Amino acid sequence: MAGFDKIRSWFSGGAPREDGSEAAPAALPPPASEGLVPAHPAPAIPNLRLLRCIGRGAYGEVWLARNEIAVHLAVKLIYRDSFADRGPYEREYRGILHYTPLSRTHHGLVQILHVGRGQEAGFFYYVMELADCAHAGRDIDPDFYVPRTLAHELDTRRRLPVRESLVLALELSEALSYLHSRQLIHRDIKPANIIYVNGVAKLADIGLVTHVAEARRDPKHLGTEGFVPPEGPGTPTADVYSLGKVLTEACLGHAALKDSTAPVTHVEGEDSAERAAFANVIRIACDDDVQRRFKSVQEFQAELMALNDAFRSRKS
Ligand SMILES: Nc1ncnc2c1ncn2[C@@H]1O[C@H](COP(=O)(O)OP(=O)(O)O)[C@@H](O)[C@H]1O
Ligand SMILES: [Mg+2]
Repeated sequence: MAGFDKIRSWFSGGAPREDGSEAAPAALPPPASEGLVPAHPAPAIPNLRLLRCIGRGAYGEVWLARNEIAVHLAVKLIYRDSFADRGPYEREYRGILHYTPLSRTHHGLVQILHVGRGQEAGFFYYVMELADCAHAGRDIDPDFYVPRTLAHELDTRRRLPVRESLVLALELSEALSYLHSRQLIHRDIKPANIIYVNGVAKLADIGLVTHVAEARRDPKHLGTEGFVPPEGPGTPTADVYSLGKVLTEACLGHAALKDSTAPVTHVEGEDSAERAAFANVIRIACDDDVQRRFKSVQEFQAELMALNDAFRSRKS
C-alpha cells in the first residue's frame, strides 16, 4: 500500500503528544520488564539462545532470543500445563498451521520462521520476527528491550494523531483483508496483539486464527471482552468489529470505547474535523448492529482509502 502518508515515530517517548506538548527527553529507559517472571524456566530451543521473557498473555510466554548470527527474534512458548484441557493448546497449534504458510506472503502479518514441539516437556513453540523496541526501534539492547505494541503506544501516548491513526487503519485493514481473502479469520484483534516491525503495524498473536468454516466448532467465549461484537466471535464481520474498536481507541482514546457507536460531531484538538470524519467511518466498522456494520473488511478498506484521498487533497 504505497502512497499514503507515512507518519510514524520510532520513539514513543519522543513523539509529540496529543495535547501538543513534547514528551520529556528520553533519559536512559529503565531496565525492561522487571515484573515479567516466566512461569517456566527457559527451555532449550535448537540454534537459539533465549535471553529474557518479554511478554505473557492468556495463552503463552514470549521470549527475546538471539540466533547464531546475532539476529534477535521472538519465540512464543505454549505449555500444555497452562490449560485444564487440551482444547486451547491444540487450538493455538492449529492456528499456527493455518497461518504459518501465509505469514511470509504479506507485510502486514507477523512472519513465523519456524515451529517446533518439545514433546517431553509438553510445549510447542514458534519463532517469529521480533517487534521493534518501543525505545530504540531496530536497535535491540536485550537489557532494555520493550516490544513496541499498539497497547504500549496507547499507554504512553494516550491517543494517536488522526493521520497516524489512518495509516494504522490502512495497514491493518489491508492485512486483515488478505487474511480474509484466504478464508482465515483472526478472532483476537486488540491493541496488545498488534506489533510494529520496522515501523509497520502487523497483526500478531495468531493463536485464534482459524478457517472461517471451522470457527463454529469452537466455544463461543473466545476473544477479548470489549473487542468481541454482541453477536459473538468467529466471523469476518466480527474481525471488522474488533478492528473498528482498536481504531476507536487509537484515534479517540480508551474512554471512547464505551460508546463508540454515537455519531461524532465534535472532538477536541487542532485536527478535530479530520478526527471526526475518521471517527465516523470507524464507527460503522464497530456498529453493534451487524446489519449496519461494513459487510466486509474490503468495504471498510474502500472507505478508508476514500478518506485518505480526501485528506491528501487537503493542505497537510
Ligand atoms: N513478535 C513479537 N515480538 C516482540 N514481542 C512480542 C511478539 N509477539 C508477542 N509479543 C509480546 O508478547 C505479548 C504476548 O504475546 P501474545 O502472542 O499476544 O500471547 P497471548 O496469546 O498469550 O496473548 C504481546 O502482547 C507482546 O507484548
Ligand atoms: Mg495476545
